[in-house]
Amino acid sequence: MKITVIGLGYLGATHAVAMAKLGHEVIGIEPDDAKRESLAKGELPFYEPGLDKALVEVIKQGNIDFKRSHDEGSKAAELHFICVGTPQKIGSNEADTKYLFSAIEGLAPQLSEDSVVVGKSTVPVGTAADLTAYLANLTGFEPKLAWNPEFLREGTALEDSLNPDRIVIGTEDDFAEQKIREVYKPITDQYNTPILITDIPTSELVKAAANSFLATKISFINAMAEIAEVSGADTVKLAEAIGMDERIGKQFLRNGIGFGGGCLPKDIRGLIARAEQLGVGQAVGFLTEVDEINLRRRSRVTELAVNELDDPKGKKIAVLGAAFKPDSDDLRDSPALSIALELANKEAQVFIHDPEAYEQLSKNQPTLHAREDISEVLKDAELVILGTEWKQYKALDPAKLSVKNKTMIDGRNVLNREAWEKAGWKLISLGRG
Ligand code: UDX
Repeated sequence: MKITVIGLGYLGATHAVAMAKLGHEVIGIEPDDAKRESLAKGELPFYEPGLDKALVEVIKQGNIDFKRSHDEGSKAAELHFICVGTPQKIGSNEADTKYLFSAIEGLAPQLSEDSVVVGKSTVPVGTAADLTAYLANLTGFEPKLAWNPEFLREGTALEDSLNPDRIVIGTEDDFAEQKIREVYKPITDQYNTPILITDIPTSELVKAAANSFLATKISFINAMAEIAEVSGADTVKLAEAIGMDERIGKQFLRNGIGFGGGCLPKDIRGLIARAEQLGVGQAVGFLTEVDEINLRRRSRVTELAVNELDDPKGKKIAVLGAAFKPDSDDLRDSPALSIALELANKEAQVFIHDPEAYEQLSKNQPTLHAREDISEVLKDAELVILGTEWKQYKALDPAKLSVKNKTMIDGRNVLNREAWEKAGWKLISLGRG
């Protein structure tokens, strides 16, 4: 099928490559020259395992083309996926939907009555209705607009797109439903993926609800960690024990410095803001607490660091990891980066390492000392903080590390206490008595 993918950020680039890999003819629309030109050359503007190779492959196959704006090619497309960002508004919890409306403006002249517009971006419930009205006004006919939320995770984005747990399609239009089923047919045929057809508001809410639920699970276990820290309990064992109950499940119960990234934090805040606008803010009042528990974990690490060093001023601290999670170079709302910045703010000499985010750190974080070589970060450090559980940090041999003071705060509970203590380290864990 001929399709367009509008907005080639994290979500859009992955979706465009995935659709091209399925054999569709994809036109990717991205006004940002640097981003688009990089993609057209087969270079991903961000780190995502496996997606880089797949991009080169689909370019070679001729299944994908990149354009600054729409042209005749878009007119021939049957489906138009809108994948633009909906970032948190500055100074507010609300999601900013302005890029959706500008995407719709650009798209309107290309549409005919049979074109199907499919929103994939995460939006406040009710946005699709506003977009439909806006689009109808621009085109002069009733547009076929559906919502099809995306659940991919960074680090496994391509895999998640090609083999999702479920496909949710919000539409009341049979033609739109059939077209969307057709585009995903290679996936549903291969994996028997369940398709859930819903009304549009449900499909918009599904994504915010799923991410809020995941964030709540993480904050729940981090709240237990606060109790464990003053009562001598072990949160890792606790999570194992409650996770064995199938009704609870063991995933997303890893305590530590909490969640970050471009989705979970912004999506819970967006849901709070939208519920308040709809007059039911109380229904998600607990999400404010979820957010606060999460942010308290970062302050807890700063507090532990200050306790260890007395006054951090002028002392060298090594931070291992800056990305919000491993296998990603995404620094948005990253707990590890936020702790590093907080300590730099207290005038510590913060040296930081990340396997993939070095360039961004050295370019954008002047108060931190980013180094490509981990031994330079560790050398003479009076305290080490593990902020992101990259596999190379988990594999470090504690006996071979050269630091000034063998104290480690394990922000992700991934280091083997026995081995580290045996090598003479003081290992401080979160939520473990
Ligand atoms: C999330 C959703 O999982 C995905 O479905 C949605 O499409 C986008 O948002 P992502 O932001 O890539 O994906 O990361 P995720 O794997 O969910 O992790 C989010 C954060 O939670 C990370 O900072 C991670 O370190 C943290 N986390 C995760 C925990 O602290 N504990 C856990 O048990 C799990």
